[in-house]
Amino acid sequence: MIELDIRGVSKDIIGNENGLNISEEFELYRDKIAGIITDLYKKKDTEGEGLQWMNLGYSEETSWYVKEYAALVENRFDNILILGIGGSALGGIAVTHALLRPYWNMLSKDERNGFPRIFFLDNVDPDQINGLLNILDLKKTLVNVITKSGDTTETMAQYMIIKDRLQKELDDDYRKNIIVTTDKKTGILRQISEQEGYKTFVVPDDVGGRFSVFTAVGLLPFALVGINIDEIIKGIKDMDNALQNPNICENIAAQNALIHYLLDKNFGKNITVMMPYSDRLKYIADWFIQLWAESLGKKSTLGENTISVGPTPLKAVGATDQHSQMQLFYEGPNNKIINFIRVGEFDTTLEIPQVFQYTGIGYLGGKTMNELMNAEADSTLASLIDYSRPTVTVKIPKIDGYHIAQLLYMLEIQTAIAGALYGVNAFNQPSVEQTRNYTYALMGRVGYEESAKAIQNKLLSV
Ligand code: PA5
Repeated sequence: MIELDIRGVSKDIIGNENGLNISEEFELYRDKIAGIITDLYKKKDTEGEGLQWMNLGYSEETSWYVKEYAALVENRFDNILILGIGGSALGGIAVTHALLRPYWNMLSKDERNGFPRIFFLDNVDPDQINGLLNILDLKKTLVNVITKSGDTTETMAQYMIIKDRLQKELDDDYRKNIIVTTDKKTGILRQISEQEGYKTFVVPDDVGGRFSVFTAVGLLPFALVGINIDEIIKGIKDMDNALQNPNICENIAAQNALIHYLLDKNFGKNITVMMPYSDRLKYIADWFIQLWAESLGKKSTLGENTISVGPTPLKAVGATDQHSQMQLFYEGPNNKIINFIRVGEFDTTLEIPQVFQYTGIGYLGGKTMNELMNAEADSTLASLIDYSRPTVTVKIPKIDGYHIAQLLYMLEIQTAIAGALYGVNAFNQPSVEQTRNYTYALMGRVGYEESAKAIQNKLLSV
């Protein structure tokens, strides 16, 4: 199992002005946390609570369909192209980057064990889209359009471009190159899929985009590129079993949620830095940023007055960012909590050859890159302690589907618990919907004419 080391936030390590008396706080919040966890698990099956993602470790239905389809199309396509944005893309990007061999798309088919390359489009940048379309052979590409709502502007615009090109290249056969993951009943894309006869997969009810990585949104792309999804399901199930424990002293998600909440509330440390010491985990930081920001950045009605709350997530990658952001983390405002993710065992042991005797670099010869990565993380931790900066460390024994699933699921439960502590609904995103509607208006969607005028006036005034 993955582990959490919280000693780096203790006042014994970083001092009274910045650190917590951990055991005292756990005792003070014992009942509150137990209540939050019990409540979450009690409500997880209730319609409208947005908690169905907590059941994903216990259902084999989706993985069964996904594996069946992946087997059916095995060897038929050279490329998978995912169209989606936000929660419909970030989990897929994070997990495939972590689990596939580095530089996957540059490997030969044999080196990929016959599985296809995988590409994601999660923006509307014309240069990027055009650039990708110039290098992809669409005839040999399976396009997976992913959108829960079924009408997200960015995704639908990409889909329209690609459908048009595919149709031109393949005539009526183009339909075999498009599969859709969307809501089971609602949305324009559901309607189109039925008319067009696309193969479809479902984003279940009560699973928001940023909590959907273990639905067909993620599992289908994973299976298509040969990732073992049974391992992933086992990872979330085992982690869920552990996190049902209402005792904060034995629940790592609850501990991390409370620590972040208290350091924000009591010491103004409202920046959460997610810092994996692994290149393969760097997009997990991007996935976490959306999860933490979109879930917690809200108006809280917990106190007498409605106030804006929410920690700001920030991405850093070790060791790279030691030479970029770390100066700020040491000497800048002491308003951050650094979340290290450390890998126990890398897949590779890479030795640094003894090629020079200079004192300045000779010491490296005969050591390994693995030792160096660990030394980098240890020295950063030691320096952060010198500067009285709080840290927590998640330890992941190795990068495989089982442990990556545990990590992501743990962060999802942590976010749900933090939402309850902050007094916000962690499962909606009202202001994102507002920008969506503004974009509809500015792009001339019928029914949004008045809104378009109001927005134009607003823009003229700035
Ligand atoms: O977490 C969320 O709900 C959002 O980030 C959505 O994933 C994002 O807006 C994309 O929405 P959709 O899947 O409906 O296209």
